[in-house]
Amino acid sequence: QDNHQDTTSPEARMVEDKPTVTAQLKGLNGRLSYAIAAAALGSAFQHGYNTGVVNAPQALLEDFINTTSYERTGIPLEEANTKLIFSWAVSIFCIGGMIGGALTGYIADKFGRKGGLLLNNFFAVLAAALEGFAKMANSYEMIIAGRFFIGLNSGLNAGLAPMYLTEISPVHLRGAVGTVYQLVITISILISQIFGMQSLLGTADRWPVLLAITVVPGIFQLVTLPLCPESPKFMLIIQGKDVDAQRSLAWLRNSIDVHEEMEEIRNEYESMKLIPKPNMWEMFTNTSLRFPLIISLMMMLSQQLSGINCAIFFSTEIFKTAGLNEEKAQYATLGMGIMNVFMTVISLILVEKAGRKTLHLTGLIGMFVCTILLTICLALKEYAEWLRYLSVLLVILFVVMFATGPGSIPWFLVTELFTQGARPLATSIAVATNWAANFIVGLCFLPLAVALGPYVFLIFSGLLFFFAAFTFRYVPETKNRTIEEISAMFRQRSYQ
Ligand code: GLC
Repeated sequence: QDNHQDTTSPEARMVEDKPTVTAQLKGLNGRLSYAIAAAALGSAFQHGYNTGVVNAPQALLEDFINTTSYERTGIPLEEANTKLIFSWAVSIFCIGGMIGGALTGYIADKFGRKGGLLLNNFFAVLAAALEGFAKMANSYEMIIAGRFFIGLNSGLNAGLAPMYLTEISPVHLRGAVGTVYQLVITISILISQIFGMQSLLGTADRWPVLLAITVVPGIFQLVTLPLCPESPKFMLIIQGKDVDAQRSLAWLRNSIDVHEEMEEIRNEYESMKLIPKPNMWEMFTNTSLRFPLIISLMMMLSQQLSGINCAIFFSTEIFKTAGLNEEKAQYATLGMGIMNVFMTVISLILVEKAGRKTLHLTGLIGMFVCTILLTICLALKEYAEWLRYLSVLLVILFVVMFATGPGSIPWFLVTELFTQGARPLATSIAVATNWAANFIVGLCFLPLAVALGPYVFLIFSGLLFFFAAFTFRYVPETKNRTIEEISAMFRQRSYQ
């Protein structure tokens, strides 16, 4: 596997070593920006919007589940059962995501990156129809089915979109473009929270529209993406089409002078022909692949098992438990969403300066401290009014610390740890793991919160402590290092 290497020109490496603002923006022409927008807005939007959309209308959806069931059977549902059905509607999204994530590598090579993204919109349309008509049809099962399909769509997006984005970007823009994916997620979570408010679509009549809006980014992508070319790397390295790849690259760079970059892709193609792509077995047994794989998986697990989606999915409920009324709780959720976007922008700027490891570690330690303090505040909330408000602030701070590093870094670190041959498979495994962990947290949180009360957050304290220690000990700093240098480091380690 030793020859899995990215070939970057000396110039490109220099730019990668010393990122200045002008050097970073060089190459970002109108067409490339258009392609980034078509791919990122259309796909990360689904991922974020559907992550946040069930938060504010939880009470409305639970009512709908109750009424529907009562109309069918004549017996009211027990509260625990309503909660269970609602939990399924929330977290089946992640089962879809897991399956979609696992399929990424296959779809990306069979239909192409752009082709896969376009086809994937079929699931978005299907899901929007199921969710949009569920009320009319008196069926909460349709919401559950719709959430599954939009999850499938989002899981595929989480693998395909970052892959397309990094493959069409010049080498020195890869990190920044990688973070764009998470930025769009946070923006679309915020949009879902705004639309979900009582004064907009969060009412008993309008929630079907709220859920069905997910069709809009799908249509946006179906209209905009066909004008963009397929990834040149896919065309040459996977399909062997040199002329088409060159045409695609010339379009993206808005210049016919793409010989140097084409030469790099050709070199990569030649070296890839000499070595077979690793299979699943080799990913886990070849030490030079296993180590970066374990790190990738730990990064993904630390993102999800930090408990972030308890805040994203259930913050309105958590704020109500802390003593806010429905309206105030929704505003606090909104404040949380705004801080998430704001901090992701800061982290986009910091990531090339402070480094991936530092930001990720800072975020995890900050989250650890927040969960401890939150537990204390919630446990003692009866004794002083201000403790309730402090706990709301702590939930928001928890999300801010997440956005510092754990939010965006895992998505593109997988790309940085692997060379071209192993990357699609590594992405599949990592993205599927991310969604699996997301699923477990989503499903277990409400029942655990009922059982453990305020102490539920201590579970995350323990996990955060573990992941912080792992990051400190094992995660390498990849800032300013070429993929070649990073994989050389892993090879060296595997011989020790
Ligand atoms: C990341 C996580 C996602 C979470 C979001 C919050 O994208 O993968 O599950 O909801 O961050 O900002």
